[in-house]
Amino acid sequence: MPLLQVKDMSHDFGGLRAVNNYNLSIEPAQIRGLIGPNGAGKTTIFNLITGIYKPTEGSIIFNGHNIVGKFPHEIASMGIGRTFQNLRLWRHMTVLEHVKMAQYSKITYGIIGAFFGTAKRNREEAEIEERAFKLLDMLGIKELSDQKVVNLPYGAQRKVEIARALATEPKILLLDEPTAGMNPEELAQMMDFIRQIHSELGLAIFLIEHRLRVIMELCEIVQTLVFGEVIAEGPPDEIKNNPKVIEAYLGKEMVA
Ligand SMILES: Nc1ncnc2c1ncn2[C@@H]1O[C@H](COP(=O)(O)OP(=O)(O)OP(=O)(O)O)[C@@H](O)[C@H]1O
Ligand SMILES: [Mg+2]
Repeated sequence: MPLLQVKDMSHDFGGLRAVNNYNLSIEPAQIRGLIGPNGAGKTTIFNLITGIYKPTEGSIIFNGHNIVGKFPHEIASMGIGRTFQNLRLWRHMTVLEHVKMAQYSKITYGIIGAFFGTAKRNREEAEIEERAFKLLDMLGIKELSDQKVVNLPYGAQRKVEIARALATEPKILLLDEPTAGMNPEELAQMMDFIRQIHSELGLAIFLIEHRLRVIMELCEIVQTLVFGEVIAEGPPDEIKNNPKVIEAYLGKEMVA
């Protein structure tokens, strides 16, 4: 059974059909890519899967459950983690606070524990902090844990978003242009990191990306979206040489 399956999904913004008859099937631990020109509907697909928008038509089955109509926080706690194209961080919170906060949906010590500092509360808090540090370490930003996000370079902020998404222990991670605005060194690190979380955590990954290199090296299967429709789907080599894809997208704007 696929981990995530989208069937015949469409979405209208008023008179604009942003996504038309979209289908997707992701197996556990698979890495998939989604490419396409600006305004093709890529981010809208992420927003539909994560419950920010409700599809006009179609179904989204995750882990055997239809998740259409569920709230974003419910979908997140079922195991779909994501990052945003335009970072959504709390500028004046620290790196560590971001990653700890993401785990609070899982605590069980309750209000009494919170007030009176019970042993259970102390133990859970210690576990949350330990997990947060582990994630920050994995991302190479542990030494920034007490920095406010507002003071960090862009590449590090992207990593905080990913750490926060991973803190909810997702089964699949949706990354919306994770390398946007990164320099070559940060780009190489990010690719290594995506490989690492995939192999160490066994996560499925669904990646929106403009850089051909990232897609070619990481993804097993890639979809090309143009005006809300998938015009090609297949292994990256096949996609790169597909005349329809070259005409609609690669010839114009792909960044190697
Ligand atoms: N909330 C909204 N209300 C109305 N129209 C929207 C909304 N969000 C997106 N759109 C429109 O839907 C279309 C798809 O937008 P989307 O952001 O999904 O594209 P994208 O493929 O992610 O583009 P980019 O590569 O620039 O990030 C665009 O025409 C966009 O203007
Ligand atoms: Mg987008």
